[in-house]
Amino acid sequence: MSVSKSLPHDAARLHVTGAARYIDDIPAPADALHLAFGLSQIAAGRVTAIDLAAVRAAPGVVRVWEAGDLPSDCDCSPSAHDEPLLSGHTIHYLGQPVFLVAATSHLAARRAVRLAKIEYQTRDAILTIDDAMDAGSSFGDPRIWERGDAGEAIDTAPHVIEGQITMGGQEHFYLEGQCAMALPQEGGDMLVHSSTQHPTEIQHKVAHALEIPMHAVRVETRRMGGGFGGKESQGNALAIACAVVAAATGRPARMRYDRDDDFMITGKRHDFRIEYRAGFDEDGRLAGVEFLQLARCGWAQDLSHPVADRAMLHSDNAYWLPHVRIESHRLKTNTQSATAFRGFGGPQGMLGIERVMDHVAHALGRDPLEVRRANYYSASGAGGPAPRPADSPRDISDNWKGEGAEDLTTRGAGAVMPEQGSAAVDAGAQTTPYGQPVTDFILHEMTKALADSADYAARRAAVSEWNATNPVLKRGIALTPVKFGISFTLTHLNQAGALVHVYQDGSIAMNHGGTEMGQGLFQKVAQVAASEFGVGIEVVKITATDTAKVPNTSATAASSGSDLNGMAVQAACRAIRARMAEHLARLHDDVPGDVEFRDGQVWVGGNKLAFAEAAKLCYEGRVSLSSTGFYKTPKLSWDSAKGQGRPFFYFAYGVSCSEVVIDTLTGEYRILRSDIVHDCGASLNPALDKGQIEGGFVQGAGWLTTEELVWDDDGRLRTHAPSTYKIPACSDRPEVFNVTLWDGRNREETIYRSKAVGEPPFMHGISVLMALSDAVASCGDGYPSLDAPATPEAVLRAVRRVRHEL
Ligand code: MTE
Ligand code: MOS
Repeated sequence: MSVSKSLPHDAARLHVTGAARYIDDIPAPADALHLAFGLSQIAAGRVTAIDLAAVRAAPGVVRVWEAGDLPSDCDCSPSAHDEPLLSGHTIHYLGQPVFLVAATSHLAARRAVRLAKIEYQTRDAILTIDDAMDAGSSFGDPRIWERGDAGEAIDTAPHVIEGQITMGGQEHFYLEGQCAMALPQEGGDMLVHSSTQHPTEIQHKVAHALEIPMHAVRVETRRMGGGFGGKESQGNALAIACAVVAAATGRPARMRYDRDDDFMITGKRHDFRIEYRAGFDEDGRLAGVEFLQLARCGWAQDLSHPVADRAMLHSDNAYWLPHVRIESHRLKTNTQSATAFRGFGGPQGMLGIERVMDHVAHALGRDPLEVRRANYYSASGAGGPAPRPADSPRDISDNWKGEGAEDLTTRGAGAVMPEQGSAAVDAGAQTTPYGQPVTDFILHEMTKALADSADYAARRAAVSEWNATNPVLKRGIALTPVKFGISFTLTHLNQAGALVHVYQDGSIAMNHGGTEMGQGLFQKVAQVAASEFGVGIEVVKITATDTAKVPNTSATAASSGSDLNGMAVQAACRAIRARMAEHLARLHDDVPGDVEFRDGQVWVGGNKLAFAEAAKLCYEGRVSLSSTGFYKTPKLSWDSAKGQGRPFFYFAYGVSCSEVVIDTLTGEYRILRSDIVHDCGASLNPALDKGQIEGGFVQGAGWLTTEELVWDDDGRLRTHAPSTYKIPACSDRPEVFNVTLWDGRNREETIYRSKAVGEPPFMHGISVLMALSDAVASCGDGYPSLDAPATPEAVLRAVRRVRHEL
């Protein structure tokens, strides 16, 4: 069976030979126009005079649009209708598009926009979290969720700490920048190619901009060269601009942002400051914790509310918090509108509680891993302890065989767990602060497995010994867990559709609403289709995402691409298979239930037919060989205002252990070794999942170490190219890097019992920050309070802080 095999990414060969086609590689018709935006040069204020004569006269320029020339407001927002395509008079951030140029070449358009003469009246910009707090500038009132009485629990606890951590934003740095192309069709219809995670959103926004129905717009996306959340909503502006130009001129229009423009215009990860107070006992067990989460959202709402909600939802990470209060402010500033980025607020929320664990351990002089374990959710939930060998992380080279496994849902039923803490427990399981029972908690076993395989105890002792004898180079080690909730928190988004055709020669075309951004979704889902029909993967054609094939899709996001689309494709395949089985059974005097599809054959009534032969027989028997499929995630119920319910179908888990060395004279450091054990359920494709884990970890470590966004006092982003913004390179990966998949099936009925893997491994990067904190802590007796990104400068400052030199 194809599912569970470590097949390479379907486009791997195309990627590495340069043959994979991205939007900018699609040959544009000869009369195509190329677009560029003219950007505001102030962060806040008004345009008082605008002279675009030189722009219009520039070589190659065909037409120029200001806000008033647009056919409608051309709103680009995915949420609040607060993002006009062009600014009009009011400027909200430095980099905001003010006008649009269409020219005969990309370069001509870019050269022309620089010739604009714009005068502004500036006002004081609100740039930082503190500016926004002082000015009361936010999107709505703060959201507060609480359980029990955190204040009282902290005040009466034997020990109390308080502190804060700031964490920077992050540029997505997809290798393929934002890009779109619109091709006008007959009768005013529009075909749009867009590098987007969300084709339906592009269709919806283009239809809105042109004031035409959605059926008149078709959006196609074959692949992105990376999205990472940065193409959930940030592609809207380019697609709308292309469609507007194409509709107005009757000519095809293409737009791609130059890298600097991409940095200046588009939103990034939300930077946060989290202030905390925690009360705990001698073992570090938390009695109560309070978080104040301050999120910088930028000028428009975009996805900030669900991002900030997810930060709140991950304030517990892996820990039972009996009394907890979380207050979240969504701050409006004159900066790029912060947007989705791998983890979608989860990493920020999680970092808050991981900092608390680290700080508590430091205050008690204990090993942080012991403090973490003492606070873990209780192992036994309604499903009983995880039914797999406790310490057997599995090498990805041996494929998990889903078929032979026991059904976990029947195991440990009725297991009773002791009630813990003071809050009520539900069905024997501890609950998250938002009331979801944690019934599948496997981190006790996973942590033990990793601590053993990474030799944590011995290496911690070796680190202490090293630090006692080496005055300049200091080492640190940390082991941190991840528990990440899987599902969109906006419940209705948890749906997917598919369209599958079997042709009369037995070849299969597969389509679904998910998009491919390098994560391997298409290959995984093709493996599902191949498995359902019992054919080889080469029989299945993977086709571009297309709003005319599968309508009303959700963004490929929240890591749920394979969960949702895998199920929808399975449903479509099963519908066709059932029709085939019925017809073939009739021909061969068998019962449909006994017809088997495997090894490229159909076994019916004692006969063996090649799958192609079976398809042909069905075609000739006038059997429909095409079907849609649909899936919606079960068991969800969520009240975001109250912060109560079951927002997640299940949790994905993982643990990582990193060791670092820092140079206390310069603050520079290296990651010496990282070990990860990660839970993908019964993996659909262990090789692709391992790729997601490695890539996620490196990207997470980059967020917390080298990737620093710097705005100057005028609100100009100063780090807008690889020369000034440092993403991890190959040489920054850990010198020793061991990634293992945890062997086990999802307890919930997901596609072949797999688990989502796209975002959760990102948060393994936290082990690097905590290892750096550990190394710094060895330099003195103070608490490092290491902020992120922990650049060499930040590490050096922290070293001086623990030595009381600052
Ligand atoms: N992996 C690659 N190579 N490129 C990407 O852009 N995006 C991540 C993750 N892994 C991304 C990636 C993000 S933010 C998400 S939500 C998931 O993939 C989306 O895909 P999935 O739902 O199919 O896992
Ligand atoms: Mo991912 S941030 O949900 O696109």
